[in-house]
Amino acid sequence: TIRAVIDTDPGIDDAVAILHALSSPVFDILGVTTVAGNIGIETTTRNAGRILALAGRGDIPVIAGAPAPLSRKGFDVADIHGNDGLGGVRFPEPAVPPLSDAVEWLAGLLMREPEGGIDILALGPLTNIARLVGEHPEAAGRIRRLIAMGGAVDEPGNVGPRAEFNIAADPEAADIVFRAGLETVLVPLDVTRKVRATRAYTAALRETGVAAAAASADLIDAYFLSTSGGESRPLHDPCVMLFAERKDLFRLETLPIAVDLGEAPDAGALDVDRKAGTAIAVAMKVDSAKALELLAARLSGG
Ligand code: BDR
Ligand code: CA
Repeated sequence: TIRAVIDTDPGIDDAVAILHALSSPVFDILGVTTVAGNIGIETTTRNAGRILALAGRGDIPVIAGAPAPLSRKGFDVADIHGNDGLGGVRFPEPAVPPLSDAVEWLAGLLMREPEGGIDILALGPLTNIARLVGEHPEAAGRIRRLIAMGGAVDEPGNVGPRAEFNIAADPEAADIVFRAGLETVLVPLDVTRKVRATRAYTAALRETGVAAAAASADLIDAYFLSTSGGESRPLHDPCVMLFAERKDLFRLETLPIAVDLGEAPDAGALDVDRKAGTAIAVAMKVDSAKALELLAARLSGG
């Protein structure tokens, strides 16, 4: 069993990733910490509660985290994830109100649990994790593994020619986290763009009649409506859960990664830099067919 906390800014693909983790027997999710990213902190926090309510997991706490990046102004990408962050898809209201604050809660959990027992599955900007590293280094040092969706290495970016959203939204946070000496796996656009849902994929999910699968189908279809062109859509954040479950479906490369701390459009771009970089394990290849098959099986209760 993978005991884990999901740190997230839901977000359409975050929601699918969370539903995957909750559907899979491999994960024991201890809490969902939220961060501003795809949309503001009130909405990402409410959405986390709504997703848990849909899955019948109101017992898992939602803990609100950083309302803004460490030092920059937040992005607003509501045009991709809809005004409510979940593409207007119907979800129940949260079963219980959220707690605060994510950083203190994470520190408490990590100190209480056996050392090296907890994975952090990071699906948004790394603001909460950077604050944990800065404010509670001892607790951060007890993390077993951080698996984070973010960055673009050989692929072009999605918010700039080389910059990817999660890192660009808080480059200073990513820089702090990458230098923290944690066991880190980065899951960049180089693999997440290869794991793509088609209309046939969402139709098959819906046909199962399973709530998590049907909700995921609606979410991905909303993502189709909001983004132009192409026959398929990338499933970025679910790749973190897929990696956690089946790292054999990915190929890791250890690369000396440095974060561009300059201004847009390159803010948050990753440089592979033998002098300034920190060695980070980066997922650079994926068996897309098997990854998609596992995701569909998990969402459908298998
Ligand atoms: C990342 O940005 C967000 O919009 C998605 O949820 C994902 O975490 C992809 O660049
Ligand atoms: Ca996300």
